[in-house]
Amino acid sequence: MADARRLLDIDTLPDGVPERLLERARALASGARPAKLSGTVAQLFLEPSTRTRVSFEIAAGRTGLDRVHVDGARSSTVKGEALNDTVATLAAMGIAALVLRHPESGAPESVARAHPELPLVNAGDGMRAHPSQALLDVATLLDDGVALEKARIAIVGDIRHSRVARSDLALFSRLGVAEIRIAGPEAWLPAAESLPVRRCRNLEEALDGADVVICLRVQRERMDVAVGPDPEAFHVAWGLTSRRLAAAAPDVRVLHPGPVNRGVEIDDAVADGSRSLILRQVRMGVFMRMAIFEWLLGH
Ligand code: NCD
Repeated sequence: MADARRLLDIDTLPDGVPERLLERARALASGARPAKLSGTVAQLFLEPSTRTRVSFEIAAGRTGLDRVHVDGARSSTVKGEALNDTVATLAAMGIAALVLRHPESGAPESVARAHPELPLVNAGDGMRAHPSQALLDVATLLDDGVALEKARIAIVGDIRHSRVARSDLALFSRLGVAEIRIAGPEAWLPAAESLPVRRCRNLEEALDGADVVICLRVQRERMDVAVGPDPEAFHVAWGLTSRRLAAAAPDVRVLHPGPVNRGVEIDDAVADGSRSLILRQVRMGVFMRMAIFEWLLGH
């Protein structure tokens, strides 16, 4: 039997699939009728989550799937059960698909190797990938009229610890974004990778004329040792304020995957301002995850 479909990261998605998912999510957002799917999707979340978890749950319901949520803190994983045994247990109960969030980078690959027959979605693994977030980010931008082939996109803040940034970068380069810039404290920049990105020295350089700004939370829980500036110092040097945003393009779009730490990486006036698409991202997230379930289960 052929392996099941999986969304593990952006790089391993077959040719044309990102484009298809983007188009379908936008059609669903405009009122297209969802496919009628059947079976049970299990959500195994071994890390906190509000929007990703609820969004997958609502999306599953809207496509006709039954849902079970396995809360990591209250499951047998705290009794020492290995991840693949937990998944084998769920698979033995006949689930149609698994949505997995895990604090360890690479956990979804290990599940995919052990259970090639199981349709699987990575809802965020460690610092590695969060493909559904990248797809919903791009769907939100396209829906707001951004032309990727002309767009200058700045990703700012704690990039090193961000799986969202990694997946965004992978999808932006795959879709041919004109210019990608990154900026943040030295300790929070990714190691010099072969990414086609422009590394900016400060926020001002990153924002200058930018069409899109993606602001990221400081992800202290993912740092082995506390490095980089404290929240106050970070806000002074790197916080996204209205004054700083004025240097970007007049119709700049501000994105943030959430959760937002107001007054740290972003000011209230920007988060709630007219350039912010933060809640539009959340709304599009549901449609993107519906599109993902349709694709995953063969529609
Ligand atoms: C992010 C995550 O958990 O990766 N949030 C999200 O899923 N929308 C970003 C973060 O943790 O800061």
